[in-house]
Amino acid sequence: MNVSRRVRRLLPLALLLGALSSACAPNAPQDTLDPVGPIAKQLDGLFNPVLAVAAVFFFLVQGLVLFSAIRFRRRSEDEAPKQIHGNVKLEITWTAIPALILAIVGIATVITILDINKIDKGADVLDVTVTGHQWWWEYEYPELGLVTANELHIPTGTRVELKLESDDVIHSFWPPKLAGKVDVIPGHTNTMAIQADAPGEFEGQCAEFCGISHSRMRLRVIAQSPEDFKAWAADQKREHPASAPGGTGEVAEGAALFQSRGCGGCHTVAGYTQGEIGPNLTHLFDRETFAGSIFELNSINLRRWLRDPQGEKPGNKMVLPVPLNEDEITKLIAYLETLK
Ligand code: CUA
Repeated sequence: MNVSRRVRRLLPLALLLGALSSACAPNAPQDTLDPVGPIAKQLDGLFNPVLAVAAVFFFLVQGLVLFSAIRFRRRSEDEAPKQIHGNVKLEITWTAIPALILAIVGIATVITILDINKIDKGADVLDVTVTGHQWWWEYEYPELGLVTANELHIPTGTRVELKLESDDVIHSFWPPKLAGKVDVIPGHTNTMAIQADAPGEFEGQCAEFCGISHSRMRLRVIAQSPEDFKAWAADQKREHPASAPGGTGEVAEGAALFQSRGCGGCHTVAGYTQGEIGPNLTHLFDRETFAGSIFELNSINLRRWLRDPQGEKPGNKMVLPVPLNEDEITKLIAYLETLK
């Protein structure tokens, strides 16, 4: 056998091994196979047995195909296969068994769907309205009177019912360790529930292509103990004195620039500006990430963003007709850092 033929023969094996090993990430923050709440665990409890049955039949069928191809291969030029005309018993068997299995899977799926979507208003439930925007997430807690962006805080052990709405195109809300994915459709409200058993940060992302920066529409769910969640919510209600310009120095100049350079036309800072287009920035520096959770929140990344928001996230609505200069950026960051 010459070398190129040997390589060609080994290529499928190499590809298979590559695909298998790529499934073994030691740290996979969006691993659907590692559920952390009752809803995700219920989905996992449906997925695993279905996968097991599918795997058995995959190897059985592929094995039979390989066996038949080798065992009954044509051995000489003038050999003709034995001519047969179907086998009624065999055909009924291989129609009935899959039909039965699919019926069982179907029933289990419908039961699971109905169960995770049951509305149980008697229980202690937290409502959140999630609005998808190109390309960030807005979270409104109607009972708490709070609005925040990208990082969804939830109390552990509580069923959180999400109302999913879109401001523009179809998105899909997907926090893999907590729930499945549900489409977020303009003009139509979908619902889904999430619940976390233990405190932690769970990454997710938009799972429906929604424009050029779809891949830059990430999200985080931050599950906190009920006490910590309460403290967080109370803190979010605070309006800070630094919101209003006055005083002197970089912070006051930055606050004035926030108005004069138009930031306040799109971004709300409670008690200072009112804007509906971009994320609410009232407590920006309580967050760990920004711009659809694609950046860790710090002054270096903020500077990068303010220099060229279109370069960092093409097509987003933050368009600066005149770019900010370095001095303006420094002052704006000094102001933004006070929004805790
Ligand atoms: Cu929003 Cu993809």
